[in-house]
Amino acid sequence: MEFKLAVLPGDGIGPEIIEETVKILGAIGEKYGHGFSLNYGLVGGIAIEEEGTALSADTLKMCKRNDDVLLGAVGDPKYDDPKAPVHPEDGLLALRKELGLFANLRPVTVYPSLIDNTNFKPDVIKGADFIFVRELTGGLYFGKPKRQWKTSRGRRAVDSMAYSEQEIERIVRVGFEIARMRRKKLISVDKANVLQSSRLWRQVTIEVAKDYPDIELEHMLVDACAMRIIQNPRYLDTLVTENTFGDILTDEASMLGGSLGMLASASLAGVPKDGSRTLGMYEPSHGSAPRRAGQDLANPIATIISMAMMLRYSLGLTEEAKKVEDAVSKVLEEGYRTYDIMGEGNIKVGTRKMGDLIAEKIGS
Ligand code: IPM
Ligand code: MN
Repeated sequence: MEFKLAVLPGDGIGPEIIEETVKILGAIGEKYGHGFSLNYGLVGGIAIEEEGTALSADTLKMCKRNDDVLLGAVGDPKYDDPKAPVHPEDGLLALRKELGLFANLRPVTVYPSLIDNTNFKPDVIKGADFIFVRELTGGLYFGKPKRQWKTSRGRRAVDSMAYSEQEIERIVRVGFEIARMRRKKLISVDKANVLQSSRLWRQVTIEVAKDYPDIELEHMLVDACAMRIIQNPRYLDTLVTENTFGDILTDEASMLGGSLGMLASASLAGVPKDGSRTLGMYEPSHGSAPRRAGQDLANPIATIISMAMMLRYSLGLTEEAKKVEDAVSKVLEEGYRTYDIMGEGNIKVGTRKMGDLIAEKIGS
């Protein structure tokens, strides 16, 4: 089969981890006889520099013309000044909004061979396996009013955690659909004891649940969820939550997998169903790690397994996806590690070597 992909390497370690991911994609193409035509574009700090905006209209158009988007990372300390008029992150947020990618899936996988490299007791995290369904185009990130202004008594600022019932319904449905493919248990995470947007979230979730009588629904407050993730992660299976809660909880949860460099991310415009094709953007959950950039240090695995999610959810290539995931597991089992997941007795490798090792396993 032939597939067209937009590739946006972005900033910092982005180009390096994308290069390895493209290498793996090539290995898959060769083994299974698929062609991937790659169309490169700029996003983030590099786009601000070269095109004057974090996401140009041309790049956006190019992304829309392709089947899917593979993205590295955005962010550059040059724009850390809170007074900067533009931010690399604006490019990423615009892509999510403009492509209608409201559903963000972040699976938390505990690789047996990495358990000893985490900060957790093996008994606590062994066998933990859950997935976050994070709402991605609403809430505090996009709600209006959103501004900063001067008053006679000093400066003020506001962000709005705004949600419509339609926005809640469509993401909660994704949650139920994913739960149906897994252990048929959905936890909806909110702060309904305090926030109006969360009360609406909970009402709508209860209404949607009527269409999913086979799924057990539980409501969990976000603070309790933060605790549960490290106290008893095996309790969790499918979780659905709003944008900001999901952002924070997924960074926390990534530690169960040993590193943020292991957390994949798929942003979709619809419910992924087996065999059907859904436009998606695939990127690691981590940032551009500017201090590690250009040194062949970064862990490419989060991006590689995000690409595997693309094969599965957008391109319907289930076997190929599994091949990539198995190759990653095998390389980890053999003891190869990038700096962020190094443990005693492991063999330290750089970004490129990690990519080569995974590609070899696919070829073999
Ligand atoms: C993520 C990132 C982004 C977010 C940033 C880079 C805007 O942290 O994908 O989790 O907050 O969504
Ligand atoms: Mn984040």
